[in-house]
Amino acid sequence: MIKNADRIYYGGDYNPDQWDEATIDEDMRLFRKAGINLVTLPVFSWAKLEPSEGVYDFEWLDRLMDKFLENDIKVCLATPTTAQPAWLSKKYPQVLPVDKQGRKRTHGMRVFFCVNSPKYRERAAAIAEQMAKRYQNYPNLVLWHVANEYGTYCYCPTCQEKFRQWLKARYGTVENLNRQWHTCFWGRTVYDFDEIMLPTELNDDYRFNPTVNLDYMRFMTDSTIECFENEARVLRKYTPNVTIQTNISGHIEKLDQFKMTRHMDIAAWDNYPAPGADPSFVAFKHDLMRGLKNGESFMMQEQSPNQQNWQPFSKLKRPGEVRMLSYQAMAHGSDTCLFFQLRQSIAGQEMYHGAVISHAGHENTRTFRECAQLGMELQKIGDAFLGGRTPADTAILFDWDSWWALEYASKRCLPNDDFNYLKKVSRFYKAHYDRNLPVDLLSVEGDFTRYKVIYAPYLYIMKPGLPEKLKDFVEAGGTLVTTTLSGLADENSKAVFGEYPGALREISGIWVEESDPLTKEERNRMVMEGGFLKGAEYSCMYQCDIIHPRGAKVLANYGDDFYKGTPCFTVNDYGAGKVYYLGTEPDSAFLDDLAAALAADAGVRPPYRADAHVELARRINDRNDILFVLNHNKQEASLDLETDRFTDLITGKQVTGVTTISPNDVMVLKKL
Ligand code: GLA
Ligand code: ZN
Repeated sequence: MIKNADRIYYGGDYNPDQWDEATIDEDMRLFRKAGINLVTLPVFSWAKLEPSEGVYDFEWLDRLMDKFLENDIKVCLATPTTAQPAWLSKKYPQVLPVDKQGRKRTHGMRVFFCVNSPKYRERAAAIAEQMAKRYQNYPNLVLWHVANEYGTYCYCPTCQEKFRQWLKARYGTVENLNRQWHTCFWGRTVYDFDEIMLPTELNDDYRFNPTVNLDYMRFMTDSTIECFENEARVLRKYTPNVTIQTNISGHIEKLDQFKMTRHMDIAAWDNYPAPGADPSFVAFKHDLMRGLKNGESFMMQEQSPNQQNWQPFSKLKRPGEVRMLSYQAMAHGSDTCLFFQLRQSIAGQEMYHGAVISHAGHENTRTFRECAQLGMELQKIGDAFLGGRTPADTAILFDWDSWWALEYASKRCLPNDDFNYLKKVSRFYKAHYDRNLPVDLLSVEGDFTRYKVIYAPYLYIMKPGLPEKLKDFVEAGGTLVTTTLSGLADENSKAVFGEYPGALREISGIWVEESDPLTKEERNRMVMEGGFLKGAEYSCMYQCDIIHPRGAKVLANYGDDFYKGTPCFTVNDYGAGKVYYLGTEPDSAFLDDLAAALAADAGVRPPYRADAHVELARRINDRNDILFVLNHNKQEASLDLETDRFTDLITGKQVTGVTTISPNDVMVLKKL
């Protein structure tokens, strides 16, 4: 949670170092008019703040900070360390990264430094300290934003050396490393840590050891955490009461965000859905952000108030779309609504990126009007849902190690190369989203006991303790749903010895003898048996596990191929609970029916009944029980609030019973 927040922070990235005084004054007027109460800056101003090594120029920023104070605008102060000055790269070329192809890169990009470079870290900590010292008593400082969208992988000699040290700390001895990596395969035995190479392009084909890839991604997460901490430590020292975060890029695959956010006071991320994105996929990512810190609220640090410049077709956001996306973020746990950017730059890559204030420079634009309307609404809502949590009885396990092992590290090792973890996991989410069944995205290290139903799709990597945790959950009465490719590997991606599904063999009560990959076009059929969804038939894809029940009950058999009539979906009673095993990837109809059936079994219900594409989400804090209602339909829709009574915080109206909602409209209902 954001410490001491008394309002929804509304505003975003502002780059006033591009503007003259008169423009900035005009911006203050426009900000007030739009209800903007927070600016994030100066994300890219290192070169301006430190014109040469150790020589700082903060006066221009001081003047701005005074203006924000006068205008009652809060500040999210960014350390400008995402783009080091050209002089720094020139003087200390070791700060520049080496890419996967082994090429030393030249200056000119952003987020373009080696996270392990001691010189980069020294200079970054130095400017962070200057800022923290200077603004520690500035009354409107409410947030720190460290650097910007970390995620550069580096393959330089420093990283090479640090990787070896990291491995030494992890494995202790080369003998142990050889054992854990099973280096006797293909003669990979090493006798010294300095024989281990980074997974650069030369090594980047299927002949390279997948375990090294996996450990490299873990190492990069740890290195990035150190780089973040290098600054956060300094900020914490001067301003212990100011919330510290760094904005997570939408490309979340690069770093293990469960680990990253342990070091952040709040999870913060940048939401840039592709034009026309399925709302369930956007909600899925928000819920993942909410899951990072165990259900605590997060920040939407950026979204575009209109088009993005970097997509092949930078579609305009349709009227009302920004409002819908904003409320959706808040419905799923965001305590902020922030834009990139407040004023459109006049040059550079982002000159045609949407902004609250466009090149036209005035308020008579559709985007400004929509943002101002939203700003006014948020003022009415005040602090009503801040810190609110979303109750959920269902969780989906999300695991970066499994993601990396299946999608990146083991390319060409698996039977089927067509693997997209995020998409595949999100299909299980969507089945719940479409029914307004709240779901938590949960780390394998999270608390399983809070849930009635846990889905563990594609949970490939079995970290020590995880099989026991899953077993305890089921034994105590929980329902576990797992799938093909789960339970197979230990934390170093070695096969769990014996019959598949490895670590899940006992609780699933099955033996998977073989797995048959399907091409993109191929389908098999799931013919339901054994009572559950009886008589129905679904289509399935991706992969077909060939299963022998070992105590489990068969719920569906394959309809085609040489394994026709053998099980593809089973359930095993274990202790007081049940383990469902899906040996294939079913169509959406199956996932919908499964979600509905298991929720009904477990007594899990949506908050209220509503028409299709009416999204409902609750946030409860110690003051209020808030229900967000989002009508994604292009026509009026309805929902049944039963006998519960609410106030709509946007319109002030009382609502109860069967209620209609206009096309594309939103209600933020406070329960009375
Ligand atoms: C990212 C960055 C911003 C900006 C936006 C543009 O999220 O953090 O600085 O470049 O993209 O969409
Ligand atoms: Zn490096």
